[in-house]
Amino acid sequence: AAIHFHQFVIEAKPVKRLCRTHSTITVNGQFPGPTLEVRDGDTLVITAINRARYNATLHWHGLRQLRNPWADGPEYVTQCPIQPGRSYTYRFTIQNQEGTLWWHAHSRWLRATVYGAIIIYPKMGRPYPFLMPKKEIPILLGEWWDRNPMDVLRQALFTGAAPNVSDAFTINGQPGDLYRCSSKETAVFPVEAGETILLRIINSALNQELFYGVANHKLTVVAVDASYTKPFTTNVIMIAPGQTTDVLITADQQPARYYMAAHAYNSANAPFDNTTTTAILEYKSAPCGAKKGQPLKPIFPQLPGFNDTATATAFTAQLRSPYKAEVPMKIDESLLFTVGLGLINCTNPNSPRCQGPNGTRFAASINNVSFVFPRRNSLMQAYYQGQPGIFTTDFPPVPPIQFDYTGNVSRGLWQPVKATKLFKLRYRSKVQIVFQGTSIVTVENHPMHLHGYEFYVIGSGFGNFNPGTDPAKFNLIDPPRRNTIGTPPGGWVAIRFEADNPGIWLLHCHIDTHLPWGLAMAFLVENGVGELQTVQPPPLDLPQC
Ligand code: C2O
Repeated sequence: AAIHFHQFVIEAKPVKRLCRTHSTITVNGQFPGPTLEVRDGDTLVITAINRARYNATLHWHGLRQLRNPWADGPEYVTQCPIQPGRSYTYRFTIQNQEGTLWWHAHSRWLRATVYGAIIIYPKMGRPYPFLMPKKEIPILLGEWWDRNPMDVLRQALFTGAAPNVSDAFTINGQPGDLYRCSSKETAVFPVEAGETILLRIINSALNQELFYGVANHKLTVVAVDASYTKPFTTNVIMIAPGQTTDVLITADQQPARYYMAAHAYNSANAPFDNTTTTAILEYKSAPCGAKKGQPLKPIFPQLPGFNDTATATAFTAQLRSPYKAEVPMKIDESLLFTVGLGLINCTNPNSPRCQGPNGTRFAASINNVSFVFPRRNSLMQAYYQGQPGIFTTDFPPVPPIQFDYTGNVSRGLWQPVKATKLFKLRYRSKVQIVFQGTSIVTVENHPMHLHGYEFYVIGSGFGNFNPGTDPAKFNLIDPPRRNTIGTPPGGWVAIRFEADNPGIWLLHCHIDTHLPWGLAMAFLVENGVGELQTVQPPPLDLPQC
C-alpha cells in the first residue's frame, strides 16, 4: 500500500463565472479542488494550510475513519476549526472501501467552492466487478452563487429568513451553455465511438437534489456511495447532495455532440434554482456544423419535471446490493427520528432578526431538538479531555410527542428546542433508524448523512411510518449500502448499521441550508461508561478552539 502526501492550501483566488470575477475560496487555486486518486489500503497524509480569512476544516465524505474520528473534519464535532494562518494534517488509511467518494470543507458554507473527488481504486490486481471501462471521468455537480456564499449564509442566519437560492448549477465547476457568459468554458468530454466510459458522478451541490441524464444514452448504474450495486439501466438518475453514483455509458449512438444535463428535483413549496447546467459528450468523429469550422449543435436530454417525485422514488427503489448483504438482524437500538423544518416564534416579530414567515425565524430539528454546534470546544476534544458542559447525552430516541407527522398540523406543536444533545450507542450494538419527514413548515427532501459509517437502506415509504406493518416489507436480503440517503418528501426511510466505530459521529441533513438551522445530531459510540481507549490518541497538531 502507498502513502500519499498532499498539501491543500485553502485560499481566495479570482474565479470568473456568469460574466463576473469573484474572490473565491479554492484549494491550491483550483475550483473544483484537486482529485485524490488512491487504492484501497493506501494512507493519506494531507496538510491543510488555511490562508483564507475564514475558519476552515476538511471532511473526507464517506471514509470510515475507523477509530480515527480526529481525521473526520466536521468543525466543533471532531475538531476545532483551523484558524486563518494555521494548518492541520489529516492522516488516515482507507480500509476496505473502493469506488467514488469526495472531500469538502465542513465549515459553514465554505464547501460551496471547497470540494473535490476521491477515487479509490481496488487493491492491486483486483478488477472491478463489471466490464473494465476504457476511460473514467469524474463529474462533480455543484452550485454557484453570484455573491460570496459565506455572506449569503451570514445574512440568512442574521435575519432568520431562508438564504437566496443559487444562481447556477455547475458540472466540474462550469455552468455551461445555457447561462450567460459561460459557453466558451462549458466542459467538453471527447469520446471514441463505441467505447464504454465510467462516469463517477458526485452531487456536491449545497442545497439541491438533482436529476442528471445524457441525451440519447442509457446509463448503467454500478455503484453508489462507494458500494457496488446490482447493475441496472436508466435514462436518468436522481442524486442528493453528498451522494455519489457510478454509471457506465457506451458511446453507441450517431457520432454527434450530446448534452449531459442536471437540474433540480424539488418537491417543496418554496423557491428553488430552476436553471439547468450542461456539459458536452463529443464523439471525436462528430461531423461539423452547417458552417465550416462550426461545431454541431448538441442534442438535449429529456429530464423529469422538477417535482417528479415518482421518477425520483422509482430510481432509488431500484438500488440493490449485488451480493447477500450483512444486514444486522437482531436490533439493540430502534430509533425513530423526525427530520424537518420548524419556525421559532419571536417576541418582537418586526425585528430585523425575525424575517422568516410571519415574523419568525427558520429552524430545523431531529426529534424537535435543533442541534447547536458548541463553540468553546469540539465534542470529541471535550469528551476525550473529560470537559463537562459542552454536550449532554440525553438525545431522545423517539419523538417527544406523537402526531400525524406528514399531515397538516399546527406548528405550535413543534417549536424546536435548541441544544447540543448526543445519543450514546454501545460499541457493536445493532442500530435501526427510521427517518420520518415532517410537514410542519413544508415537506422537503432531507438527504441524511452519517459520518464514520456505511448503512443499509432497508425500506422507505410515504406518509407516517407504521411500526406494525412497514417492517414486514423491509428488504433484509440485498439492500443497498450507502452513507447518505434521502428522506422522501412527506415520507420515511429506514436504515440499519452496526455501531463498530468508536468515537463521536455527526448525523445531519446534507442540505446546507438545513444544517446550520439545526438538522443534525451526533452519536457517541463507546465501549463502556467513560471508556474511550479504543479510539486512537489525538494528533499533536489538532487545532484548539
Ligand atoms: Cu458531506 Cu457532514 O458531510
